[in-house]
Amino acid sequence: MKTSLNILSKRLFNRALYLVLVFEMASGSIDHKVPDETISPLIEATSIRGPYFDKTASKNITALVGHTAYLNCRVRNLGNRTVSWVRHRGIHLLTVGRYTYTSDQRFQAIHSPQTEDWTLQIRYPQIRDSGYYECQVGTTPPIGHAMVLTVVEPITTIIGGPDMFINKGSTMNLTCIIKHSPEPPPLIYWTHDSKEINYDSVRGGVSVITEKGEVTTSYLLVQRATNTDSGKYTCHPSNANPHTVVVHVLNGEHPAAMQKGSKLSLKSSLSLLSVCLVLFIST
Ligand SMILES: *[C@@H]1O[C@H](CO)[C@@H](O)[C@H](O)[C@H]1NC(C)=O
Ligand SMILES: *[C@@H]1O[C@H](CO)[C@@H](O)[C@H](O)[C@H]1NC(C)=O
Ligand SMILES: *[C@@H]1O[C@H](CO)[C@@H](O)[C@H](O)[C@H]1NC(C)=O
Repeated sequence: MKTSLNILSKRLFNRALYLVLVFEMASGSIDHKVPDETISPLIEATSIRGPYFDKTASKNITALVGHTAYLNCRVRNLGNRTVSWVRHRGIHLLTVGRYTYTSDQRFQAIHSPQTEDWTLQIRYPQIRDSGYYECQVGTTPPIGHAMVLTVVEPITTIIGGPDMFINKGSTMNLTCIIKHSPEPPPLIYWTHDSKEINYDSVRGGVSVITEKGEVTTSYLLVQRATNTDSGKYTCHPSNANPHTVVVHVLNGEHPAAMQKGSKLSLKSSLSLLSVCLVLFIST
């Protein structure tokens, strides 16, 4: 029994190798003379009869370091064939069916019987896990679909943290910057003391401006800050780690008073000037 399993896995492994070779030929890393026109009718003919990949549901993935990644493979007309996952680097057979073949237990194949999805789950992905992964079906000859996993580590920061002090009545301007993001975050939301900020609240004067690009910046503006605006503010990009700052609204001088104060000091320097002038004239 054990030997037959061994033979089976060896056979699967050989198939995996074969597929990698086929893939390399197709991607052009190995010279081959077969023009594409002769290959495609062949592929089409097999896909009508047997299993084929739903490529729109089996795409390249960008994952965050440490956040479980899922590479999906949707196989139609699978029948009783086995789906395996192979990593191109080092040509590693990772999973066979739902069985994890590699000793690296971070890899696991997930399949629900009602679905056509065979998902490779990678727990605690690291940057070195980036590369080509291939979903293979044990037909004769075997077929495979390769996908790229890119593991990245974006950095989120809020300028001026971890503690920020602003005067009551002034405008709070929090600037959140997201760097090394594989693509601009599709969504950035802000929370105040763990509650999502509502830009249409009765409080008013709260707005957000987001500039997406290689570096994405989100400005949270809160006008006429009051004591209730104090607390923890967190910027949550949908594809990067959140970042938190603590804002302290100070009961210091009211800006109106400060304005009055500056007018006063202007007045007093004017009077000082006139005193000087008077002194100058009188001497
Ligand atoms: C996946 O990534 C590879 C390498 O970057 C690229 O050649 C291929 O076109 C990508 N596939 C899709 C469906 O975007
Ligand atoms: C799959 O099923 C067919 C019949 O539908 C059978 O002939 C074949 O041996 C089966 N293959 C495996 C690997 O079980
Ligand atoms: C908010 O602060 C940033 C710098 O951190 C500045 O570039 C931006 O213009 C400010 N926005 C407003 C409305 O004051």
